[in-house]
This record gives sequence, C-alpha cells and structure tokens, in this order.
Amino acid sequence: MEHSQEATDRRDERFLVTGALGCIGAWTVRNLAAEGTHVVTFDQATDPRRIRQIATDEEFGRIVLEPGDITELASVERALDKHGITNIIHLAALQVPFCRADPPLGARVNVLGTVNIFEAVRRRPERIGKVVYTGSVGMFDAADADPGTNRLENDATAHPGNHYGVYKQANEGTARVYWAENGVSSIGLRPMTVYGPGRDQGMTSSPTKAIVAAVLGRRATIGFSGRTLFQYADDVARTLIVASRSELRGAHQFNLGGSLVDLRDFVAEIDARIPGAGDLLTIEGAPLPFPEEIAADALAAIGPVPVTPIADGIGRTIDLFTRLRDQGRLVPEQQGLTV
Ligand SMILES: NC(=O)c1ccc[n+]([C@@H]2O[C@H](COP(=O)([O-])OP(=O)(O)OC[C@H]3O[C@@H](n4cnc5c(N)ncnc54)[C@H](O)[C@@H]3O)[C@@H](O)[C@H]2O)c1
Repeated sequence: MEHSQEATDRRDERFLVTGALGCIGAWTVRNLAAEGTHVVTFDQATDPRRIRQIATDEEFGRIVLEPGDITELASVERALDKHGITNIIHLAALQVPFCRADPPLGARVNVLGTVNIFEAVRRRPERIGKVVYTGSVGMFDAADADPGTNRLENDATAHPGNHYGVYKQANEGTARVYWAENGVSSIGLRPMTVYGPGRDQGMTSSPTKAIVAAVLGRRATIGFSGRTLFQYADDVARTLIVASRSELRGAHQFNLGGSLVDLRDFVAEIDARIPGAGDLLTIEGAPLPFPEEIAADALAAIGPVPVTPIADGIGRTIDLFTRLRDQGRLVPEQQGLTV
C-alpha cells in the first residue's frame, strides 16, 4: 500500500537539475532517468558527453535538455514553468580554479545564481517544496575542525580561504534567510573530494584524471598529497535525490560521508587493478587546506544514503573508462588530460 503511494508520488515528480551537464549533475539525471522519473537538465553548456558516458541510450533518450543560464532569473523561471517542475537540485557553479581566475563571474554564477534559484522557488510555493543544493567542505579552513575531536563538525563556523568558499558560505546564508523570511525549505549537502566518471575539472579532479591516465597507459600527476575524504560521484547524486524527497522542513546543511583515504593508497588501489600503473602516477604538492576528518552523522536525518567503499568506486571507474577506451570513446582532452 505504502509502496504504491510512493510510486504514485514519484510519477508526479518533475525534476530540474541545474549544472546537469557537469559531473555530479550527470549522475543525478542518469539515476533519475534510470528509475523512470521525469527529469530536465538546465545548463548553459550544450555538450552532454558526461551524461552519455554513463547513461544507456534509452536513459539518455528520456532526459529533457533545456539550455539556460542561472544568472538570468527569467531564464530559470521560464524553465520551471515550461516543464511544470516540482523538485529542484541546484548544482550549477564554477569550481575553484575558475572562481580564482574570474571572481566577478564566480560570484555571478555561484552567489547570484543561487539567489535566483531560491527566488524562483519562493514564487512557486504551491508546486516546489524545497531547494536541494551543493555547498562544499571547501568553505572551511583546516583550523575549523573541532580541536577536541579533530573532526569538522556539522555546525562548525567557516573561515573560507578563497573566493569559492566565500560564495559557498554566502549560499548557506541565503538558504537560512529564505527559510526565515519566506518559508522556503532547503537542504545543502557539502561534498569534499568527488571522484568517478565525469570528474574531469576542478581543483580536486586529479585523482580521477589519474585513473583515466592509468587506463590509457599514460603518465599523470596528482596535484595534492595527504588524506582527503573521497566521495563517489554516483553516491553524491543518489544522496541529492534522497534529500529532494525528504520531508525535512527548514534550512539544513549537511557534511557528506565518504572514504578518508591517503593519496598513496588511492594510487596503490589503481595499481592493484592495473599492474604497473603506480609507476606512471606521481603525487605532488601539499595536502589540501581543508579538514580531513569530517563528521557526517547528522546526514542520517534525510534517511539512508549510499557510501561506496573506495576500492569499489575505483574499480567501477576503471571498468567504465576501460569500456569507453575499448569503444574508442575515452578522449584524453575530454577527460581533462593535457596532451
Ligand atoms: N566535484 C567536487 O569535488 C565538489 C566538491 C564540493 C562541492 N561541489 C559542488 O557540487 C556542484 C557540482 O559540481 P561538479 O563537480 O558537478 O561541477 P562541474 O564543474 O562538473 O559542473 C558544473 C556545471 O555547471 C554549469 N554551469 C556553469 N555556469 C552556469 C550557468 N551560468 N548557468 C547554468 N549552468 C552553468 C557548467 O556548464 C557545468 O556543466 C557545484 O556546486 C560544486 O561547487 C563539488
């Protein structure tokens, strides 16, 4: 009985995913399409290659591609109404190197773009229940970890060290005020280092690029050392979907769980599956300036969410890249590798 009610509710859902042509977005729309949920992408990019590399033709055929720019409120509103959207997962953003290269553009996309999403939802309370969006552990400094537990607690105060972190912190403030003043509910999830197919750009993308390089038998450098909390892109996507369906009201932000792994062990895992790959991969540079140990227990409030063990996540990534390579579809430049 309960199950069929859930099935009916899901048939009524119409998701819009901003930034859906990026890494996490591609997994999100793939998963929604795979379960038969109506899903629309909203992205200013036009090449759906990250979706194509993980979706079957049938899944891809069910996804509606809507070009649009989140810095234009009218463009967001048009898409919401044209497709009768009921659920929003907001991922469109510029990552660290891009915000650093052009801070005004970074603020337009990351801050104004997020305000636009909240504003568009505020104007449609009868149809859209909440905003689900990605924050980032990147808004914290390593020193924001609790001195007693050495972990980044869910309610830690952020002291961002770069523009990207400042914008992410601003978005959590936007979410808080839209709840306090306008009753717009939201759930922000804070990933750390996402890896897996599609992770071909951004400051922490080099571990995934190292997997691509290993599959192609090429050399690559991972640009940071030490330990980081890895999250498999598919897990992040599934967690966003769980969040969107959760009954939580209010403005919530949650650290995400994952696998705390030393880069040397990450490379050793690749080498165990592709013998000799370890000799092609170099780890260089300082550890990331963010907390390593991250408390994710509060996330249980949205319900059970998947955490793929690192060995399985690396294994699946290698399998998918190997399949693409064998089909002649693993193009180094498209995977963020320089020639
Ligand atoms: N990848 C990570 O490790 C990580 C970690 C923490 C937080 N996050 C956050 O998760 C979200 C998704 O990350 P990702 O790795 O999938 O990023 P990505 O760079 O792969 O994708 C971002 C997408 O946003 C789109 N976009 C940029 N400007 C736009 C605009 N003006 N209008 C519409 N679309 C626009 C891009 O075309 C791209 O497809 C981002 O908010 C990011 O900050 C990612």
